[in-house]
Amino acid sequence: MPINKLSKRLEICAGMVSKGCRIADIGTDHAYLPIFLAKNNLISGAIASDVNTGPLKTAQKNIKNNGLEKIIKTRISEGLKNIYEDEVDEIIIAGMGGNLISEILDKCNFQNKFSKKFILQPMTREYDLRLYLCNNGYFIENEKAVYCKNKVYTVMHVKYTNHKLIFSETYYYIGMILKNYNKDTKLYIEKQIRDLKNKKNGSHHMKNFSLEKKYDSIIRILESILH
Ligand SMILES: C[S@@+](CC[C@H](N)C(=O)[O-])C[C@H]1O[C@@H](n2cnc3c(N)ncnc32)[C@H](O)[C@@H]1O
Repeated sequence: MPINKLSKRLEICAGMVSKGCRIADIGTDHAYLPIFLAKNNLISGAIASDVNTGPLKTAQKNIKNNGLEKIIKTRISEGLKNIYEDEVDEIIIAGMGGNLISEILDKCNFQNKFSKKFILQPMTREYDLRLYLCNNGYFIENEKAVYCKNKVYTVMHVKYTNHKLIFSETYYYIGMILKNYNKDTKLYIEKQIRDLKNKKNGSHHMKNFSLEKKYDSIIRILESILH
């Protein structure tokens, strides 16, 4: 199958990759992302990896059909376990839950994480992922919201700094998405407000009024950001 166009979600991931670098696409599944990047001469090499053989076979088939076997290598790997740090510059972990992405980063034993760029695209639990990143020496340099197939996601460009960061609670709900304010950003903030309102109602029913107040103050801050 020729892959000429990506979903908007993967397109935003692709847009964060630096031209000419070597990437690892962790949890590649169909390998659409490295295929798109290689076909458009945007990367010098790629490792398309997956923990499961089924998706990796699909990836291999798609890579072969597009004649890209010289540029994109495939590999079975649980997270970054079988990826060697001197063979990649940028690491993409997309289409997984935020907790799984945190687990993969937590098991990363690269000696020099500082030199790598991580492009992370959680499908769920972005709050948990941002909290993990801040507590474990990672910094979100850039972040973009993306509306795709009736859902709104976020894509993060992350660097390792080895500095533990503490932000206000609101940060963990929106990260750095205000760096790129557009209609998708607005949709993302609206989604976060809806989720917070549900949590606020839940805490009200549980008579946890301090928690209710906390959620209420974050909702107010997020509402004040919307324009
Ligand atoms: C929903 S697909 C995402 C595909 C693609 N990255 C995307 O964003 O469209 C998730 C893929 O991650 C793989 N996966 C799940 N856990 C993994 C892990 N710990 N390490 C590597 N791959 C994993 C699954 O086998 C599956 O192919």
